[in-house]
Amino acid sequence: MPIYPPGKTQKDIDDLYKRAYAETKIIYPKKAKVFSARLRNLNSITLHKGNLSKFSVGIMDFFIDLYTWIKNSYKKIIRKIYPRKDLIYGTKKDTYITGKLTFSKKENRTAAIHNMEIELWARTWLGQWRKMAKGLTDKNGKIMMKFDFYESKKIKYRSFHFEVHQTEHIFFDPNTGNPREKVSVFGSFKIRKSDLTGLGYNLGTIQLFYWEYRKDVPIPRVVIKDHNQDAPEYYSEGRNQAIAEQFVQIELIKDKHLIKIKAEPEKISIQSIQADYPKNLTVAMEEKIPYSTRCDYWFGRRMMNGMSCATFIPDSNEPEKYWVRIFGSCDYEVNGQYAFPTTYGQFIIAENGLPIPIKIKIIGQTNAIDKNPFQEKTFTPEDGEKWEQAKRIMRVTSALSSEVDDHFAGTHLNTEQYSIAVRRNVRLNPIAQLLIPHLKEVALINHTADTNLIGNGGYIPSASALTVDGIIERSKDALGVHDWKNWKPMKPISDQHTFAIASNLFWDIVDEFVTFFFNENKAEIEKHWYEIYCMSNDLVRNSVPLFLSEKDKSKWCENERELNEKRIAYNHERSCFDLSLPREKYNGKIRCISPITKNPSKPEDGEMESLKDMCKYAIMTATFLHTYVNEHQYEDIGEVLYCNLGLRYGEKKEGIFQPESDHSIFPDLTRSTQMMWFSNLLSRTEYGFITRNEGHDIHPRFSELLLAKKEEFAKLNVDVECIESRTNI
Ligand SMILES: [Fe+2]
Repeated sequence: MPIYPPGKTQKDIDDLYKRAYAETKIIYPKKAKVFSARLRNLNSITLHKGNLSKFSVGIMDFFIDLYTWIKNSYKKIIRKIYPRKDLIYGTKKDTYITGKLTFSKKENRTAAIHNMEIELWARTWLGQWRKMAKGLTDKNGKIMMKFDFYESKKIKYRSFHFEVHQTEHIFFDPNTGNPREKVSVFGSFKIRKSDLTGLGYNLGTIQLFYWEYRKDVPIPRVVIKDHNQDAPEYYSEGRNQAIAEQFVQIELIKDKHLIKIKAEPEKISIQSIQADYPKNLTVAMEEKIPYSTRCDYWFGRRMMNGMSCATFIPDSNEPEKYWVRIFGSCDYEVNGQYAFPTTYGQFIIAENGLPIPIKIKIIGQTNAIDKNPFQEKTFTPEDGEKWEQAKRIMRVTSALSSEVDDHFAGTHLNTEQYSIAVRRNVRLNPIAQLLIPHLKEVALINHTADTNLIGNGGYIPSASALTVDGIIERSKDALGVHDWKNWKPMKPISDQHTFAIASNLFWDIVDEFVTFFFNENKAEIEKHWYEIYCMSNDLVRNSVPLFLSEKDKSKWCENERELNEKRIAYNHERSCFDLSLPREKYNGKIRCISPITKNPSKPEDGEMESLKDMCKYAIMTATFLHTYVNEHQYEDIGEVLYCNLGLRYGEKKEGIFQPESDHSIFPDLTRSTQMMWFSNLLSRTEYGFITRNEGHDIHPRFSELLLAKKEEFAKLNVDVECIESRTNI
């Protein structure tokens, strides 16, 4: 059977790809004009009808913006009039304030917050700030700051304030290249002047709500009470500006569609919805050569190097053939409207190094009538139209699995757990400078995803088979195969396996950069090892259980056993998870993340290397691995009829085995525009790139190393200028 469109060759498709890629490449628009519509920040986006179409809402937005502007300007003026100079008033140290700083959640109220920057400030009757003392909490969270009693009793002082500071932003001085920090007040506690009697003042135990773990989900997540007002961190100004400028047109298109679907549904179709959004790669290719993105050649190529970047495992009997296994709904909760069968694809590697599909097995429910979860259907290219439909089913299953398992769990949630452990514990250790620029903002975007992507009313539960509980349980399981220890990038199986080759190239750069950093900072890293010990404990104890380790395997039927054994083997291979390592048990659960150190005082043999490996892994996940899956969404799930996150069973006995012309199995009109909105949102609004270094927060060495390999990456279809420094979309 031909693997290309009739009369076309591989060269035709490859040339077409290059042209279409250039045509649809995302180029960020210029800045929004002063009076043009815009979004306030990432948290103001919404999957449902947005707030940009109505005049009255526009006016309201204007006044909110005006209020924010006045408030910020007022603060700036006050800061100018009453600067907070880094100058200690008073010379004697004859009195003190003391106390203890701990976390505040019930289960860790006794856990000290160590090495936290603390200050004592006085305010005069005229509102001026005067610093009385500064210091750090000790290892046990103890507060002890001495200050000048005589100075504090001066009549000009009206009130006193004990402040806890945290690092808000780490950046590298553009002139010297040296790291610097911007700190902000995390908590402030007023002290009455009359309470400072000269005998020493005890603040008691201050329980700070500081980067606290959530207890309502079985995944390590941070509590965010209010995204805009009471979060442990905030987006940088540049990030908010980027979303405001880049996304407004997409938001307007989606709003227009939602209004039209309600008012005149007969005048709108999947095609017209598609046509309103910017053209994506597959649309641009199909326009020029029909069937170019549906053919076997393209299917294999995208399975290997597209958003799914699947793992190819040699067949145990015929090692020249490979299997890709995409696991569907398994035993996760589903809504019964959308199909999510397991699909196994068998491939051969052609002479050109690219995989060609030769067989697809579909296991599970494919129509609304036969609900047997283990029914199996096998297709080959000889099956004509059914083969085309089987490829689409595998593409869709793969897209949902990639979205939930690889993108959301594997990069977003995976990175957040490192971010929380670092922010809770690492302050004096230079590891903070190395990691925080790459770990920041992920907790914020994950909080937004809770609403727009995975929560009730979010896109995935409404447009795919998985329910909210199903997604949470699946994400927890997916995280259970991610560990920093002994991790390595995917092994290339041919010279056309560009994802794997680029991953290895990037990994080498991360290694060189992190090694350089460790060599420069070795003494200080060792000196503040206690922070690493605490970070390691938080990381391990809050990590999810080892993949499927909590399941009662004796209850599995034969089919379940076979499926789950394949799943365990495939997922371990895919995540390069070393099952031979000893795992820690905490609170009765086998934890999937390995400890970095067991010694609170100094690194034992090999533990510096372990810390280095953990840092490399966290940076790799937050940068290259996230960027790859994130930006390829636009190419691989940017055309509703080509691929989406869920085909509907419908009422026909053939279920999801329908030609592309039958739209009844595709997402409905609302979900279609939401899908386009969502893939554009995630791929089009990236901000914070390693080489562009917009916030000066990337170590200059990292950017240099990456730029030096620009040409090599370009040959692998990777633009180094587009690799994000952090996971924030
Ligand atoms: Fe993302």
